[in-house]
Amino acid sequence: MASGRMAEKPAAEAARGRLLDGRAVARAMREDVARRVAALVAGGGRPPRLVAVLVGDDPASRAYVGSKTRASAEVGIAGETRRLPAAVEQRELLATVAELADDDEVDGILVQLPLPRHLEAPAVLEAVPPAKDVDGFHPENVGRLWLDQPGLTPATPTGVIELLRRYRIPLAGRHAVVVGRSAIVGKPMAALLLRQHCTVTLCHSRTRDLAAACRQGELLVAAAGRAGLIGPRHVRDGAVVIDVGMNRVDDPQRMEELFPGDAGRRARFAKRGYVLAGDVDFARVAPRASWITPVPGGVGPLTVAQLLVNTLEASLRRQGFAP
Ligand code: GUN
Repeated sequence: MASGRMAEKPAAEAARGRLLDGRAVARAMREDVARRVAALVAGGGRPPRLVAVLVGDDPASRAYVGSKTRASAEVGIAGETRRLPAAVEQRELLATVAELADDDEVDGILVQLPLPRHLEAPAVLEAVPPAKDVDGFHPENVGRLWLDQPGLTPATPTGVIELLRRYRIPLAGRHAVVVGRSAIVGKPMAALLLRQHCTVTLCHSRTRDLAAACRQGELLVAAAGRAGLIGPRHVRDGAVVIDVGMNRVDDPQRMEELFPGDAGRRARFAKRGYVLAGDVDFARVAPRASWITPVPGGVGPLTVAQLLVNTLEASLRRQGFAP
């Protein structure tokens, strides 16, 4: 959509802020994977196999890994978790990854991050063979992404591209602004948007006048990890807004600011002592956006669904069913 047309859009239409339903898209992606796994097995292949390596007892990491292995089982992917104690030594962790690397029946290896501080994550991620690197974190896959060569790409930003594709939101020639420069989301998101022929601005914590930079975006992807960072001042009228943030808000006053009068969130806060909030101040930004993802139910479900797609594709290639 040209910027001129966006400016001419009637205010009532711009005020809609239609929801991009990540749960529905993730469900459709999982159904596709289930069908393709069934076809693979019917064609004489073996079911794809994904192994998650989980170090320590961080509750959030345990929950993420649990949801990845459960989702695998539902689509016919054999998912398992290798649990290692928080105090595991680097060489022991590397030996586990090497064993999985050598096992011909393992198609995907995922080392859940963050690792405890005494471990060197870069060396661990480099020990995963690029062909089994379903997270797309190996330097070879990162290089392939930036060089537009085929390879596995990180699940969260790849899932965002799939969400936009399924909603037929045009990307070529549009100005996309990404906030956050992490290796897991921000940087690969910028590379993937570039691959879709967007003009890309990558902002971060040192960006001067963040709001002005963000207002350039016909597409705005928030992946900074700060609850409510993106307010209406940051959003161009009619922009498509993607919220990758998943932040715990444990201050009741901040919760009330972000979710004024939200009875459901108040109840959850009373029960758990926190609520989840995205990087986008949804209540104030939605009226300016043409499309927007909610938190939860936006980007979160896409990460797991795309990981299953990556695992299937790694397996098809490793079994000789794909180039
Ligand atoms: N920690 C937060 N996000 C991710 C992810 O996408 N993959 C892995 N392995 N760890 C993470």
